[in-house]
Amino acid sequence: MMSYQKGKKMKRKILVIGGGGYLGIVLVRKLLELGYKVRVLDSFIYGSRAISCLSSPLLEIVKGDITHAEVVTKAINNSDAVIHLAAVVGDPAAKARPELTINTNYIASLSIASACKLSGINKFIYASTCSVYGIGDEILDEDSPLNPVSLYAKTKISSEKGIMSIANGEFCPTIMRMSTLYGYSPRMRFDLVVNTMTMTAFTEGVIKVFGGNQWRPLLSLSDAADAYIKILEADISVIGGKIYNVGSEKQNYRISQVAEQVAGAIEELTGKKVSIRTEKDNQDVRDYKVSFERIRRDTGFEAKTSINEAVKEIWMKLESGEIKDPKQKVYYNHYFDSSEELIG
Ligand SMILES: NC(=O)c1ccc[n+]([C@@H]2O[C@H](COP(=O)([O-])OP(=O)(O)OC[C@H]3O[C@@H](n4cnc5c(N)ncnc54)[C@H](O)[C@@H]3O)[C@@H](O)[C@H]2O)c1
Repeated sequence: MMSYQKGKKMKRKILVIGGGGYLGIVLVRKLLELGYKVRVLDSFIYGSRAISCLSSPLLEIVKGDITHAEVVTKAINNSDAVIHLAAVVGDPAAKARPELTINTNYIASLSIASACKLSGINKFIYASTCSVYGIGDEILDEDSPLNPVSLYAKTKISSEKGIMSIANGEFCPTIMRMSTLYGYSPRMRFDLVVNTMTMTAFTEGVIKVFGGNQWRPLLSLSDAADAYIKILEADISVIGGKIYNVGSEKQNYRISQVAEQVAGAIEELTGKKVSIRTEKDNQDVRDYKVSFERIRRDTGFEAKTSINEAVKEIWMKLESGEIKDPKQKVYYNHYFDSSEELIG
């Protein structure tokens, strides 16, 4: 079994599958800063311009598709731990390409987990989602009933179950059921609630709220990346074979409250009042409040970043022109677009 003691960081090689994505890039950057050797395996559906900005002798980038078993077998070779983020992500993207979603999110994830087990990699961290709870009245913990309302969430539940079914003393997966993320990433997404609201406030001067009463747990990208690092560095006897909700009770928000937070941050930054328009149609039916007690107790994880800071950062990226056209298809997963060169 690999040792995860302090002082041995330079020797640890982490494979981040999906490391070219919205969360992946931020996590990979932090791992490199901590001195880990990182191999990224990604098919770069949304292009590879963002990852190419991370240059480090500790970083190896492998372009490949996880639905091809030989690609995975080669990539996991010599890894001490595997973080698996790659997926068709989000309800609209899964709805647009259902077969690809099942192959990527479920079948490929199980074969990756099996390959890790056969290769003796016991630390396997899998990105799932709080969307598995779908709709629920109570504060939901990891043992609460699952109530998926999309193919995306169903594939994540099936993968969780399949991965956990092969766990034993030598293969100790950890499942991360993440809150909805927000914040700036070099591989930006504007199809996530806080980012979308900031973008429409910038481009149209209005924040649109669909419904508004639904509860949703939110978490910044930076905090999410820190949670992975906490799990990576935790003793496997504590976190192995467990499921964690990843987020913060303080960031369980109603969608209408998210809009107020976004508008408030923009007003603080620019002095401009942004109007909030509530629409009854196109309401996302997901509605859940989540407990994060387990990850806090086992790892001490606490979220540090607020919506306020993240909105201001995104706004400044838009205002400075660093993000030129936030309506480009590349920022919305369901288009499966990689024409990033247009962004310039
Ligand atoms: N962003 C969120 O709010 C959020 C919330 C909960 C859970 N998650 C989970 O976190 C993970 C990362 O999400 P994200 O927001 O960074 O999404 P993303 O779409 O930006 O990243 C996914 C990455 O996976 C890669 N990928 C997809 N199919 C692949 C394949 N067949 N082979 C190789 N690479 C492939 C893509 O190219 C992309 O870089 C996902 O598993 C997602 O389900 C995200």
